[in-house]
Parts: sequence; C-alpha cells; structure tokens
Amino acid sequence: MNAGPEEIARAVTRLREGRLVAFPTETVYGLGALALDPDAVARVFTLKGRPATNPLIVHVSGEGMAEGLTTRWSDDASRLAQAFWPGPLTLVLPRAGRVPPIVAGGGETVAIRCPDHLLALAIIETLGEPLVGPSANRSGFVSPTTAAHVESEFGEAIESEELMVVDGGPCRAGIESTVVSLVGAVPLVLRPGVIGSSEIAAALGREVATDGGTGDASEPLQSPGRLASHYAPRARAVLVEPEAVSGIVSAATRPVAVLTVDEVALAEPHWAIRLPRDARGYAASLYTALREADARSPGLLVIVRPPVGSRDAAVWEAVMDRLRRATAPRG
Ligand code: TXA
Ligand code: MG
Repeated sequence: MNAGPEEIARAVTRLREGRLVAFPTETVYGLGALALDPDAVARVFTLKGRPATNPLIVHVSGEGMAEGLTTRWSDDASRLAQAFWPGPLTLVLPRAGRVPPIVAGGGETVAIRCPDHLLALAIIETLGEPLVGPSANRSGFVSPTTAAHVESEFGEAIESEELMVVDGGPCRAGIESTVVSLVGAVPLVLRPGVIGSSEIAAALGREVATDGGTGDASEPLQSPGRLASHYAPRARAVLVEPEAVSGIVSAATRPVAVLTVDEVALAEPHWAIRLPRDARGYAASLYTALREADARSPGLLVIVRPPVGSRDAAVWEAVMDRLRRATAPRG
C-alpha cells in the first residue's frame, strides 16, 4: 500500500532525528538518511555492510538543492538536470565542503540525483535537506524494487525500529540510475542505466565517454558499483544462450531455476520464471525475478540471454550490464 501524508510526516521526523528511512524511487528503493549528518550517514554504511570507500548518491528535490552540494555546478550539470530531472540520472561533481567526506567515500566528488517519485520528492521537500540513498539492500546483493524486498533484507532493523520503510509500491524502472561523471574534461558514464549515453550526449551537444569497466577489483575504485560481482543473487548464477538450457537442466543434480522470456516446460524439481520480452518490462521485473528464484535456493540460477533488440538499446545495455555482474564469479 502506498504511504500517505501521516507516514511521510513520520518518516521526516525520524530522518530529522538522524535515523534511517527506506524510500521508493522510480529506479529502486533507497536507504535514506540525512546527507549532511555524518552520524546518520555512518548508520547507512553499517546497516548495509558497505565498504567505507564506496560513496553514496545524494538525493535532492531539484537543481537548487543540488547547486549547494558542489563547488562547480557547471553548464553541463545544469543542462543535464534540466533535460533529465527528476529522473534516473546521477551526476558526479566536485564535492562542496558542507558534504561530509563519509558520503563521498573519502573522495573529492559527490554523486547527486533528483528521483522521479512523488513520495521521495515529498520527503526531501518537507525535510528541506538532501538524503543519501544507496539501494536498500545488503552490500553486493540485488537491489530492492518493492517495500517487501527491503523488509526481507532488513527485517530485524525494521522490527527494532532502527529502520522504517515507506511503501510506494513497485519501482517503475527497476534498475539503478545512470551515473555520469562531469569531473573530467569529457563526461564519462560510470554506470549504464535507462538513460543512455547517446541521450546524454544529445542533451550536452558533445561527446560522452563510457567506462569500459572491466570490473577488476584490483583497479582503483573509479565507481565501486562497477565491481564485477555487484548485484549478485545468493545462488550461483550463469548467463547462457537459449539453446543451452535443456542440456544444463538435464545434467543438473540439484534444482535449477531458469529466468527466461520464452515459455519453457521444465520437469520438477526445476522451474522457470518468465520475464517480459521488451526492454523496459524486462528491466522492471528483473530484480523481483532474481529474488523469487533465489528465495527457493536453487542449486543453479540460469539466466537465458534476453532477445536484445535495437529498440530501447540503452535499457538493454543497462540490463546486460546487470546480468553480467549477477553472473560474474564472486571476487
Ligand atoms: O537509482 C539509483 O541510483 C539508486 C536509487 C535509490 O537512487 N541508488 C543507488 O545507489 O543505486 P547505490 O549506492 O546502490 O549505487 C551508487 C553507485 C555506486 O556504484 C557508487 O560507487 C557510485 O554510484 N557513486 C556514488 N558516488 C560516487 C562518486 N562520488 N563518484 C563515482 N561514483 C559514485
Ligand atoms: Mg546498490
């Protein structure tokens, strides 16, 4: 059930006390805390089990709030904010001194976005202050796209009132925002999302680079979410071609879960989860499907390569990025 004004007021009160509130956005649920309160931010790192070097995104209600968080709100930043905010685009900019270093993983930059969700915006506007909001999952695992997902991650913390969850129903986009850095000479996409690099380039009127991101953990942490085994389910997961499924299933000695857009009949104890064929539908359902499969502890989680077409190419690119990470060997 969607939260009403009373719950928003309760969430705001808790946040003002430096406590944690998970909130819905158009992408995934965020684990919210006052961005300018280092103690509140520290609670987010602890609850998520997130490495202190992995910086958080600061969520704002608009351009005005964003400007105060960076020492250089450039023309590029302003153009992108006007083209895509509120929406799933995160801008990495030079960090202003009032943003606590802990938010930035100790670095000199800050990631900022304005979420396209009425409940998130209502909370931030009522607070009059920005919120950090990493995805509301334990570090390294699948992002939550419903309030129930957050509850399954942090049941104890909710029970003990350390954490409150504002329910906004399922997230529309279903995968995390595009992250673009405006710190260097050329804009650089650090994490693909539903807003593609070509749309960003069109809005800026100049070229945009993409981070090849090998995901090698030994590289310096440019954007730590790019580490290979991020977004991973608990079960071992593999990405395969459609033709390979029957062979894998017949050779399996333990139950196999298959995520596919096709109709497949599997004999017990194996089972299939159907995903939509279109890019946006696939992205919106992917994390729920991964969680559903994972919850039944399969011996193996088989993700069938989806039929990536030219329509919504950016969304497919973001989906494939998440699928590669979900199926990468654990580091
Ligand atoms: O859609 C989203 O972005 C969601 C919703 C809740 O807003 N949030 C989210 O946050 O995905 P998180 O913390 O799970 O992922 C943030 C990503 C990470 O890959 C992190 O390393 C990167 O953004 N990031 C954050 N601050 C950065 C910075 N200053 N420089 C480079 N990368 C940064
Ligand atoms: Mg995350």
